[in-house]
Amino acid sequence: MVLARYGYILRKFNPNDLESVIYINRTCLPENYSPSFFLEIYQNCPEGFIVAEIENKIVGYIMCRLEFGFSEFKRLKLVRKGHIVSIAILPEFRRKGIATKLITEVLKFLNESKINECFLEVRVTNEPAIRLYKKLGFNIVRVIPGYYLDGTDAYVMAIDLVNFFKK
Ligand code: ACO
Ligand code: ZN
Repeated sequence: MVLARYGYILRKFNPNDLESVIYINRTCLPENYSPSFFLEIYQNCPEGFIVAEIENKIVGYIMCRLEFGFSEFKRLKLVRKGHIVSIAILPEFRRKGIATKLITEVLKFLNESKINECFLEVRVTNEPAIRLYKKLGFNIVRVIPGYYLDGTDAYVMAIDLVNFFKK
């Protein structure tokens, strides 16, 4: 998973990274979690928790959980799905394609694990993130009114990996 030619590397999270990941999460997002929440996600899906590093400094992370539930694409079908719980890149390292690469790695892992869909929630006001997800092929599938603590609505966005990897 090493991509040194881009000036950063991606590697799997390990519990020693917890402090850095919590720092990035608190710096970048209002949705903050307890240390045990991060570790639970890691235990649920170690391959779906990836960090980006530049010169030994963690500058971003993605964490994904595996879930079982109704498909967003096939009516009334129960499927395994990837749920991108959180992604963030420190402000000075944005617009370098790091988030795109982190998500692509997670989607590849899901596809290799025969998991055909992935979803996430995002604030309806978070234009940078919505653009990023749309560019990758996620679509808005529904709105959850008042999803966030401050009352903001969420879009649920999802991607059908069968189509994504056929391209
Ligand atoms: N304005 C407009 N479009 C943007 C922006 C922006 N500020 N940021 C990214 N995009 C779009 C662009 O189309 C961009 O392509 P381009 O640079 O060629 O124009 C494309 O997304 C890919 O951008 P990346 O460089 O891969 O994204 P980056 O590494 O900068 O990370 C992220 C994007 C994660 C949204 C970052 O801005 C961030 O950490 N924001 C704060 C935290 C956050 O909002 N996280 C998502 C919350 S939802 C969730 O976690 C499930
Ligand atoms: Zn979520």
